[in-house]
Amino acid sequence: MEKIVSLCKRRGFIFQSSEIYGGINGFWDYGPLGAELKRNLRDTWWRAMTRDREDVVGLDATIIMHPAIWKASGHVDTFSDPMSDCLLTKKRFRSDHVEPQSGIVYKWTGAKGDDGKENADSFSVLLPAGKPPESARKVGVQFYTNRGLTNPALLGETTAKVENSRAFNPENGAQLTEPKPFNLMFHTFVGATATDADKAYLRPETAQAIFAQFKNVEASARQQVPFGICQIGKAFRNEVTPRNFTFRSREFEQMELEFFIKPDEAIEAVCGTVAAWSETADLSVPQDNWGWEMWHRYWVAQRTAYYAGIGLGADVLDYYWQKEEELAHYAQACVDILFKFPFGTEELEGIAARGDFDLSQHQKHSGKSQEYFDDAVKKAFAPWTAEQRVALVERKNAEAKAQKAKRLEKEGKKDQPSDLTPEEIAAIAAWCDRLFNGFYVPHVIEPSAGLDRLALAILSNAYHEENKVDVNGKTELRTVMKFHPRVAPVKLGVFPLLKNKPELVAKAREVYESLKRHLACFYDETGAIGRRYARQDEAGTPFCVTIDFETLGEKGDELKDTVTLRQRDDGAQERVKISELLGKLLPLIS
Ligand code: GAP
Repeated sequence: MEKIVSLCKRRGFIFQSSEIYGGINGFWDYGPLGAELKRNLRDTWWRAMTRDREDVVGLDATIIMHPAIWKASGHVDTFSDPMSDCLLTKKRFRSDHVEPQSGIVYKWTGAKGDDGKENADSFSVLLPAGKPPESARKVGVQFYTNRGLTNPALLGETTAKVENSRAFNPENGAQLTEPKPFNLMFHTFVGATATDADKAYLRPETAQAIFAQFKNVEASARQQVPFGICQIGKAFRNEVTPRNFTFRSREFEQMELEFFIKPDEAIEAVCGTVAAWSETADLSVPQDNWGWEMWHRYWVAQRTAYYAGIGLGADVLDYYWQKEEELAHYAQACVDILFKFPFGTEELEGIAARGDFDLSQHQKHSGKSQEYFDDAVKKAFAPWTAEQRVALVERKNAEAKAQKAKRLEKEGKKDQPSDLTPEEIAAIAAWCDRLFNGFYVPHVIEPSAGLDRLALAILSNAYHEENKVDVNGKTELRTVMKFHPRVAPVKLGVFPLLKNKPELVAKAREVYESLKRHLACFYDETGAIGRRYARQDEAGTPFCVTIDFETLGEKGDELKDTVTLRQRDDGAQERVKISELLGKLLPLIS
């Protein structure tokens, strides 16, 4: 990882934000090559998710939205991490990320200074096995000294053995405060008065704007469910412990799709049955009888194919299917697509089946209907008998009761009755009634990826070190960034063989000028040709062309107007006509 971080700085992929002022933790800037890389990644995602499809449209919403959105989404109340502070240094930790430790805990009831002043705050220190008790007492003395005692004598010392505790600072053993929820949303004030009533949030995810604009998009884009709305944009989270370079940042970009589908009951009415997923299911073309499970699997397959298309194949990806007890109460399924980062296999993207939770929440909080009218569903229910309708209502009641029982168990309230309240029963009856008339709040499948995390995965995957023999026969260790040509920041290096031959330079400039409108090119005439190749290898440029004396026709007409095209990964070289270069390269990079 250190090598990647160092290359990112040296070659202008990623810099620490505000570096000249000592940096700011959790914020990163992209340099010239990084900006191009990110732009390419953004473009590949946008193309795969909307331009190449007829059933997904785009959105570009504001970062600051009405604060009620974040109340409805649950972010104001629950978007938090547990946080603990070191009682000695005040350093803040994410409680669930503290390394578990074992050893002897030294506890004091207080301390007395040599001037007789006392402090009755209790304090403990964890002493790892093999360390002398004096080192724990030293930390204790420091704690009471910080509280204003001079030469404190520790009082009421007791000891106890602990195992795998997250209650102590791993750096000095000092006691941490009890975990407290820390809301991760950055806030600001809109307008000049800056009172609490003007408080607004920087969005912690791009998804909510999609839900909030669902009705406008649906009305204007002439799309019918199933269809999706996607968005790329900045998101902000005041992460307690930003870490692993750009992996967990405080400002980052997300690429999210909300794909709206019919509830399974509507599919059942229209198609007779809902397609059941199996390992051998054909996910290549969406079918009318797909319910949430097939759509969820379909998006996992689509996203996997997307990653393969930019060089992240099955060998570097993994999947984590959340267990039932880990799922949010409204979620039907959630899978994390993981990438094998140098620091471990970690989440790159989450794909969740979120039911109708989000739109229903906005319907409830805004008072504005988020229902969709589906004529096919209305027509399918029209011939249903009263008995059939009652049977569906009863089935929904039974499902809701089972879900409630599961939720109570998860919340540790197993002994509470899971019987539905009259309000819950009425809500189900109303929902069914709306469905019989063709109205429903769409359900949603959400593939949600991080652009900066993807850039880091692409950089890590591309990083290779190779021993290369230079023109003098000397072996040197070189870095080659093996980006997939589709995402490489620069696609083509253009070099005149010699800088001091005006005819070569003029021809090389001509080639460069004619190609740069079509693909990202880099012109370089300085240094030996081997050095120029090495520089482009380090930048990850997949192709280089050299304009030499053959190009000028000095070795016969046959080679006139041809160049040497060199491939980055195997160093293979071939002669290609200048007029054929574009036709050869464009299919490889698009
Ligand atoms: N709307 C769903 C959502 O936001 P999430 O799992 O919190 O889900 C989705 O975030 C993706 O956003 C993650 O898989 C990751 O790629 C990216 N992401 C989340 N927090 C991030 C952070 N602090 N720094 C960089 N990327 C982050």
